[in-house]
Amino acid sequence: MKLVGLVGWRGMVGSVLMQRMQDEGDFDHIEPVFFSTSNAGGKAPSFAKTATTLKDANSIDELKKCDIIITAQGGDYTTEIFPKLRAAGWDGYWIDAASTLRMKDDAVIVLDPVNNNVIKDALAKGVKNYIGGNCTNSILLMGVGGLFKEGLVEWVSSMTYQAASGGGANHMRELLKGMGVINAAVADELATPSSAILDIDRKVAKTIREDVPTEFFGAPLAGGLIPWIDAQLENGQSKEEWKGQAEVNKILGNEKVIPVDGLCVRIGAMRCHSLALTIKLKRDLPLSEIESIIRAGNQWVKWVPNERPVTVKELTPAAITGGLEIGVGRVRKLNQGPEYISAFVIGDQLLWGAAEPLRRMLRIILG
Ligand code: HSE
Repeated sequence: MKLVGLVGWRGMVGSVLMQRMQDEGDFDHIEPVFFSTSNAGGKAPSFAKTATTLKDANSIDELKKCDIIITAQGGDYTTEIFPKLRAAGWDGYWIDAASTLRMKDDAVIVLDPVNNNVIKDALAKGVKNYIGGNCTNSILLMGVGGLFKEGLVEWVSSMTYQAASGGGANHMRELLKGMGVINAAVADELATPSSAILDIDRKVAKTIREDVPTEFFGAPLAGGLIPWIDAQLENGQSKEEWKGQAEVNKILGNEKVIPVDGLCVRIGAMRCHSLALTIKLKRDLPLSEIESIIRAGNQWVKWVPNERPVTVKELTPAAITGGLEIGVGRVRKLNQGPEYISAFVIGDQLLWGAAEPLRRMLRIILG
């Protein structure tokens, strides 16, 4: 059995990954080696088949013994360790959740329900680096990948509504603390039906400005939104927005670039990222055909008819969170013309957006 090193398994993405690997019986097919950056020599987690000790995640000698390494430890770890490991002659498969290596020529972005052909070509050519995509882009392609596969997309405008989990565990906690601070500020008034709503609103606004914690997001998210995600680039895009076109085209292995752009916005959802898309199709197709093509994209597409009752029930974070289904709805023709359609795509950011493509890549390598 292949020796598979697991790094960063204790963090949020890593924990979701471990859960999915247990659910799918992945540990039956590997000899796992658990690494730690801080607790080498400690006890490895109980879901490993045999009791083992944690290895030092900074030890190139220990890492070198693995046939495959999966890391959700983060970009700093990849930047520090990966070059040393390769320089030491390690020729194993590196599967990584971090963005560090994504755009490198010798790396493939993995999302096999969408780009299995790209992955298979790369494996045949001996590519050894397989990197999970940005969550928003993976969800976009899991949702409307069928349209791309059929070569129907001229361009996409992608306006996102991204959950707190995209920032990390601390960001999720900050969102919840902020919600609590707001509620506490007006709890008495809320309990008094006769209290004036504009008085409550004034107090809430002051609380959001002054008391909601901002340590991790840099601005109050609870009760609001933040229309910027990640670093500022010179062209006015945020780095998150830049990733849209760069990664979507790389995932698909496109020679001719399909323009993908739009604004990325942080909202107060916990772990579901959503995208409001405008898609310019290359030709005018009936909506029934568009539906069939989107549904055929992959088995996880959850098609939601463009009707109010089912949309507000099924196309929401409450309905989608914690599962592998990617909701696709609000598909209709836009006033701009018959080739212009809207779509709303929503998925769990920690599953298809982070952990799931990694464990699936492991299974592909194992064959
Ligand atoms: N960059 C994403 C976000 C998460 O901040 O929502 C990682 O793909």
